Amino acid sequence: MTTKRIPFVAGNWKMFKTIAEARQLVSEMIPGLQAVKGVEKVLCPPYTSLLAVKALLEGTDIGCGAQNMHWESSGAFTGEISPNMVAELCQYVIIGHSERRTYFGETDETVNRKIKAALINGLIPIMCIGETLQENEAGLTKQVLEKQITGGLVEVVLPKANQTGKVNLIIAYEPVWAIGTGKAATSTGADSVIGDIIRPAVAKIFGDEVAQSMQILYGGSVKASNAQEFFAQPNIDGALVGGASLKVEEFVPIVQAAGN
Ligand code: PGA
Repeated sequence: MTTKRIPFVAGNWKMFKTIAEARQLVSEMIPGLQAVKGVEKVLCPPYTSLLAVKALLEGTDIGCGAQNMHWESSGAFTGEISPNMVAELCQYVIIGHSERRTYFGETDETVNRKIKAALINGLIPIMCIGETLQENEAGLTKQVLEKQITGGLVEVVLPKANQTGKVNLIIAYEPVWAIGTGKAATSTGADSVIGDIIRPAVAKIFGDEVAQSMQILYGGSVKASNAQEFFAQPNIDGALVGGASLKVEEFVPIVQAAGN
């Protein structure tokens, strides 16, 4: 039985906000976000602010997530944070963001290790995939996405779905050329990539039921003015929002649009 997909919006703060700034932003956002029902809302601040943000979100229906993690649970890995450390603070973790792949050498193989480690530690990974402009223009979108999906999900075993049937893995389709550029994909274009390429690739691995129940997001220059258009598409279940998640007057309306 497939499960109705609940709209999902996550804010990826990237490397922005000190602890004091994070506290202020979250305090300003909570009332607006809390007022929207029927949408899963998640904030992903930098590690240093996770504890402060978690404390502020206590008693709300807003979740939090980390932006990355290592796959080992402990060890001599200077500068890294382990899955169990992340799991003490939040429920979600972004894995394989294109900035991690581009600037920090992440590959489908490291993404795969991280996805497995996240799931073992009870975290819900938000796995990012997307093609570059060059790949897009060369007509390689399908090939690239299928490789990222199969490579990232090798031997991944999803935990048994809970009573709600929610799949504990989220995919974010983020075309690299649309991230932080102000040049979003078209809503229908993103919808067909998800519907024609990503869901079928997921179905090949986990079966139809999981593919139809999995929340698949769009990311890349989502803002208050274009969010509604994306959320109106049948295959787009929400958004991973970067720049606009740092502004109350942008992020709250995006979440509201997901609830409409
Ligand atoms: P953007 O970033 O919304 O600023 O384009 C999206 C992301 O990187 O997740």
